[in-house]
Amino acid sequence: MKRVLLASMLFLSASLLSAATNKEIKQEAKSAIMKMGGALKSHMKQNMKAGGPEQAAGFCLEKASGIAKEVNAGYPKGVSVKRVSLKYRNPANKPTADEAKVLEQIQSDVKRHKAVPKMIVKEVAKNSYKVYKPIFMSKGVCLTCHGDIQTRDPEAYKLIKAKYPHDKAIGYKKGDFRGAFVVSIVK
Ligand code: HEC
Repeated sequence: MKRVLLASMLFLSASLLSAATNKEIKQEAKSAIMKMGGALKSHMKQNMKAGGPEQAAGFCLEKASGIAKEVNAGYPKGVSVKRVSLKYRNPANKPTADEAKVLEQIQSDVKRHKAVPKMIVKEVAKNSYKVYKPIFMSKGVCLTCHGDIQTRDPEAYKLIKAKYPHDKAIGYKKGDFRGAFVVSIVK
């Protein structure tokens, strides 16, 4: 009896601590993602407006990773953001084994029409976390470069395919689960 009580007290204190940590970690992740997402989105919009899908694709192919690097360099120490997908275009966005597991779980929840959390926090080691924010094909414009043969822009896709001959990131429909931002936070 005593042992059970002790065990449950320990469990309680551990989960209370993690609730507070969870909240703090999520807040840090949210602000990091907003910076990254904001930078990518504003450039994409400008290029789409100025030169259509082809120019926007050219921008993605040539400049997106540089912008991501720049934004990453501005984060507090121990924080970094990347994007991953089970169907990745850029091999640099291939998930690691632990990340793939989380993405598969989300994918299966989506399939079964279960609600997907806005953010998922995983403790990967002591004081080291990965925060996942699922990305969906929420806008029709995403299909210009990630859709099927009917929705893709053929000229833009020519440029993309030339750079990524093994591209997996096509065939999406509006609303599909696409991947996730992964924020690594080492305390
Ligand atoms: C103009 C073409 C274009 C449009 C429009 C576009 N993308 Fe992409 N997307 C790309 C290219 C090119 C890459 C690879 C960039 C890189 O080198 O990381 C990419 C990569 C990604 C990745 C990283 C994972 C991977 O497959 O490499 C995600 C996630 C993503 N896109 C989601 C979206 C979403 C969501 C939208 C709509 C809001 C969107 N994209 C619209 C061209 C586009």
